[in-house]
Amino acid sequence: MIPSVDRVDVLLSQDELNERISALGAEITARYRGRDLTLVGILKGSALFLTDLMRAIALPLQIDFLELSSYKGGMASTGSVRLVKDLTHSIEGKDVIIVEDIVDTGLTLRYLLQTLATRKPASLATATLLDKPSGRVEGADCDLDFVGFTIPGHFVVGYGLDLAGYFRNLPYVGIYHPEEDS
Ligand code: IMP
Repeated sequence: MIPSVDRVDVLLSQDELNERISALGAEITARYRGRDLTLVGILKGSALFLTDLMRAIALPLQIDFLELSSYKGGMASTGSVRLVKDLTHSIEGKDVIIVEDIVDTGLTLRYLLQTLATRKPASLATATLLDKPSGRVEGADCDLDFVGFTIPGHFVVGYGLDLAGYFRNLPYVGIYHPEEDS
């Protein structure tokens, strides 16, 4: 069944997203001047954040993508992470920022940091649009270098984030309220 947008309440408006992402871009620009920057977007959720963030960074940079799966289309984590699509270029010697949509349990990011560290980047940092610290599981505490917004433990959709593949195209981030009986 196609989920209804009537069940979504705006949490972060388009204007709030734009303003915060401009500030993150300026922060990254100041910190990465003179470095060889690669943004690694995690598909599919980070697609909108990555394309807006890269336009807010006033530096030469490259982008690449990885696809993982940790959720099986629902609202609960499966707890295991699988690599679905790997990078197309080497990141050896590059200053890499992993670009995520949201950090919840932290398991995806822990997997990414461990996997990408073995590929000898010059540096490895993390940027996430949303941080949901209440979801963090033991052993998956990770340092986040750039955070857009820290949010409460709701299931959110929009601006790249999905429920069963839907809602990624909403221009805002909203809280999804499930049906009473689901
Ligand atoms: P983690 O491994 O639990 O930190 O989850 C990371 C991934 O789970 C994110 O990249 C999202 O794809 C997905 N996820 C976690 N919380 C939400 C949510 O509230 N809405 C949509 N997707 C989510």
